[in-house]
Amino acid sequence: MGFPTVRLRRLRTTRAWREMLRETVIDPADFIYPLFVVHGHGVREPIEAMPGVYHLSTDTLLEEVGKATEAGIKAVLLFGVAAHKDPEAHEAWDDEGIVQTAIRALKAQFPDLVVMTDVCLCGYTDHGHCGLVVDGKIDNDSTLEVLADVALSHARAGADVVAPSDMMDGRVRAIRKALDSEGFSETVIMAYSAKYASAFYGPFREAAHSAPQFGDRRTYQMDPASRRQAIREVTLDIEEGADVVMVKPALAYLDVIREVRDRFEVPLAAYNVSGEYAMVKAAAATGWVDERAVVGEILTGIKRAGADLIITYHAVDAAEWLRRGDL
Ligand code: PBG
Repeated sequence: MGFPTVRLRRLRTTRAWREMLRETVIDPADFIYPLFVVHGHGVREPIEAMPGVYHLSTDTLLEEVGKATEAGIKAVLLFGVAAHKDPEAHEAWDDEGIVQTAIRALKAQFPDLVVMTDVCLCGYTDHGHCGLVVDGKIDNDSTLEVLADVALSHARAGADVVAPSDMMDGRVRAIRKALDSEGFSETVIMAYSAKYASAFYGPFREAAHSAPQFGDRRTYQMDPASRRQAIREVTLDIEEGADVVMVKPALAYLDVIREVRDRFEVPLAAYNVSGEYAMVKAAAATGWVDERAVVGEILTGIKRAGADLIITYHAVDAAEWLRRGDL
């Protein structure tokens, strides 16, 4: 048997066949739309390295989310840009902080929207690290209490999902315990479990004003060359109570996404990060790639690798293209 009896091209001859036999289908319900919220009113400030992404105040945030929900987006992930930074990241757990205010505004206008929040300190500390600094080092255990306070303040404001991205050991357990003891047993934890120390976060740090002021994040984020460590991180996060786990970034880590998918039953998110977005936008702006086609291919590839959910700045564009049948 084999060729010429068997011809694989037979089932590729028409668009109908290709669509009928497509093994991976992306849908707007797969996407989580990240947004950057700032203080003020009427703000819609472009972020230079992320064309199409803006700093939004709560009023313009509502407009943007209105557009997103119309396109079929079900979930957003909020990042706050603090007005005030200090060594202990006070605004991060302030009930009147920017994220807490934005959550209340969103839940009032879009009760069915899944509101997720990034739980981390780097956007709120003057040193720009994701944890508290003690004797020049990022101190794991004292950071846990602060992270739990941040998660609690988000839950109190109405967040459906808290997403710790700090990479401290034990944060999922600390957050779960704090949430449960205050009556938030239904608040979901989506853990940035396998988060690598990546240069692909460059544009995000400009957007969130969160670049570390000394050193780097390699003592807490993972070494990019390691795969087994990712499995240990995911295993621990699930044991500590993570409802959803994440691999981040996505594109240089598709093997990690596949391995986590094959080994665990929990829902898996992948973060198509700022640098991945910026590269597509830059190449599309010069006409070197067809933006719509490469975005479709990238998002399909992340899902084919095994992600159930994709956090992506392309979310609204991709959802609109899908609705029009252009992807
Ligand atoms: C905060 C955080 C970062 C990202 C998400 N949460 C930056 C970092 O760890 O330096 C990156 C997201 C992106 O690049 O799109 N810790």
